[in-house]
Amino acid sequence: VEAPKPLIVKEELDQEVDDGKKKVTILFGTQTGTAEGFAKALAEEAKVRYEKATFKIIDMDDYATDDAEYEEKLKKETLAFFFLATYGDGEPTDNAARFYKWFTEGKERGNWFQNLHYGVFGLGNRQYEHFNKVAKVVDEIIDEQGGKRLVPVGLGDDDQCMEDDFTAWRELLWPELDQLLLDEDNSTSVSTPYTAAVPEYRVVFHDDASVQENSWSNANGHAIHDIQHPCRAKVAVRRELHTPASDRSCTHLEFDISGTGLVYETGDHVGVYSENCIEIVEEAEKLLGYPSDTCFSIHADKEDGTPLSGSTLPPPFPSPCTLRSALTRYADLLSFPKKAALLALAAHASDPSEADRLRFLASPAGKDEYSQWVVASQRSLLEVMADFPSARPPLGIFFAAIAPRLQPRYYSISSSPRIASSRIHVTCSLVYEKTPTGRIHKGVCSTWMKNAVPLEDHYDCSWAPIFVRQSNFKLPSDTSLPIVMIGPGTGLAPFRGFLQERLALKEAGAELGPAIFFFGCRNRRMDYIYEDELNSFVEAGALSELVLAVSREGPTKEYVQHKMMEKASDIWNMISQGGYLYVCGDAKGMARDVHRTFHTIAQEQGSLDSSKAESMVKSLQMDGRYLRDVW
Ligand code: 2AM
Repeated sequence: VEAPKPLIVKEELDQEVDDGKKKVTILFGTQTGTAEGFAKALAEEAKVRYEKATFKIIDMDDYATDDAEYEEKLKKETLAFFFLATYGDGEPTDNAARFYKWFTEGKERGNWFQNLHYGVFGLGNRQYEHFNKVAKVVDEIIDEQGGKRLVPVGLGDDDQCMEDDFTAWRELLWPELDQLLLDEDNSTSVSTPYTAAVPEYRVVFHDDASVQENSWSNANGHAIHDIQHPCRAKVAVRRELHTPASDRSCTHLEFDISGTGLVYETGDHVGVYSENCIEIVEEAEKLLGYPSDTCFSIHADKEDGTPLSGSTLPPPFPSPCTLRSALTRYADLLSFPKKAALLALAAHASDPSEADRLRFLASPAGKDEYSQWVVASQRSLLEVMADFPSARPPLGIFFAAIAPRLQPRYYSISSSPRIASSRIHVTCSLVYEKTPTGRIHKGVCSTWMKNAVPLEDHYDCSWAPIFVRQSNFKLPSDTSLPIVMIGPGTGLAPFRGFLQERLALKEAGAELGPAIFFFGCRNRRMDYIYEDELNSFVEAGALSELVLAVSREGPTKEYVQHKMMEKASDIWNMISQGGYLYVCGDAKGMARDVHRTFHTIAQEQGSLDSSKAESMVKSLQMDGRYLRDVW
C-alpha cells in the first residue's frame, strides 16, 4: 500500500493547482494549536471523502506577507475554511492579528467574494463577553461581500466541549461539500464512515544513560525569542505578597534577563513555560508503568526522514530526554482529557470493559456522561487514567494523542524597563482549589512560581524558558494626558509598570498629566499588595490619587466600580480632556461590571442617552483610549 502523501508540501503553496482538481484552502488562527488541529482534522477527513479535491492548510500569517497579497489571494479563492480562535478582550490570536486588522478595517470591498464558498469555525469560551467575536466578524464580512456561506458559523465553546461543537459543525458541512466536491457517479464513496487514526510519534529508546539530554531551554543565543524559541531566564527574586493572615497566596517574582537579548516594553506580557510539580510527575510515571529514567527520543518522521502519516502530530519536543523530564516539561497532565484522548486510551486498555467504557464516554451516546463525569467534575487526565488502570499507552501515543503539550502561561509584566531593564517582574496569585471530585487542583505555573528558588537564596536557582509578547496596553505617548487605571487584585500588575514608567519620566523632566488608580482587595491586612510602593508613587507624584475598594472588611462589599461611581465626575473630566481609560483583571466579572459602570458614568455625567453613551464608549475604544488587558 502506498503511504499517504503529506497534506501540505510547503513549496506547493504558491503554485496554482491545475490538474482539474478543486482547490480547498483551510486557514487557521491558532494560539495553543487547537484551531490548527481542527484544520488538519477537517482536511484529513475531507481528503478521504473527496478524491477530486486538493487541500492546503495554512497558518494565517504564512498565507500572505502583506495586505496586498491577502487581497490578491483571497479574491482568487473559490472554496475556503477559516478556523479562528478568540482571546481575552475579543482579540484574534497572534498569528491572525495582521490579517484581522486589515480585514476589519472597514474598507469597501465590493463583491470580492462572489466566487467563494466558505465556512468559518470559531474557538472561544462562552464565559467571555466577546464569545467567538473574531469568527463571527470574519464570517459576516465574507457574507457581506458576496461569499456563499456553506454552514452557519461554528461557535466552539471551550467551557463545554469544543470537540463536540466541531463534530456537529462538520456534520452540517458534509452534505454541502458533497454537492460541491462529489461526482454524481461516485456519491457512494462516503458510505464508509471515516475514523481518524490515532496519531503516534516514532519513539527510540536509548539505554545509554550517558546520552546528553536535549532541551529547548538551551536555545539561548537565538536571535529572536518567541513562543517557539523561549529563552532561559533565572529567577532572581521571589517573595510572598500576602501577609501571613491571608489564606491565599500571591507571588512577586523577578526573572533576570541580563545578557539574554530579551527586551520588553511597559505593558507587554511575558509567556512562561513552567514545570509540573514532582508529585504529579511521579503519579504519571506510575500510571504509565515506565521507570522515570527511561531515556528516549521522539520523532515525527520515519527512519528514512519521510513524514509519518497522520498530519495532526504537533512538532516533537526536544529529545532525547528522560521520561521524568518529558513529563515535567512538556505534558499537560491536569487538564481534563479530550474525547480523542479517551479513544487513544481505549485502544490500549487490556481490560475490555474499561475499553468499552472509555469508548462510550467518547461516543455521541455518552455525550451527557462525558460532560458530567469528565468536564463538570474537572477530572484531570491523571484521575481518568487512574480509573482505567489497564490502559497503558505506549509513549509515542501518550505524547501524541493523550497528554496535550503543556502550554506557556501569560502574565502582564509588572515592571517597566525604565526602572528594571534587566528584570521582568511578574505578580501571580496562586491557583489552589478543590474540584468536585475532592482533588486539590494546584495551578501548574502559579505553584511553580510560589515554590521557585531565587538566586538571592541559592546559586543553583530556579529558571524557566520565557519570551515576551507585545501588547497594545500602553501609556499615551503624550505624557501630559490624564489616565484612569482600574485594576483590582493582580489586575494591578501592568499599572505597577505604568507607575514605574511615569516615575522615570518625571525624574527625566517630563510633564505628567493626572493619574488616578482604582485598586481593590479583600482586606487591607491580608492582600493589599504593594501597599508601600503605591503610597510612594503618590508621594513622588507619579500617581495623583489612589482609590482603594475593600470587599471583605465591613458588612458590605466595596468594589472598584462602586468607587468609580463616587468619583464619576473626576473620571468624566479626565476622559473629556483627552484622557485614557485602562482596565486590567478578570474579564468575566470585574471588567464587565466596570464596563457597565463606565457606560453609566458617560450617561449621567455627559447627559447622554443610552445609545449615545454607547457610541461614545465605542469611539473611545476605536481611538485606543479605552484599553483592556483582561483574562
Ligand atoms: P471578593 O473576592 O470579596 O468578591 C480582588 O480580587 C478584588 O476584586 C477582591 O476584593 C474581590 O472581591 C473583587 N471582586 C470580585 N468580583 C468583582 C467584580 N465583579 N467586580 C469588581 N471587583 C470584584
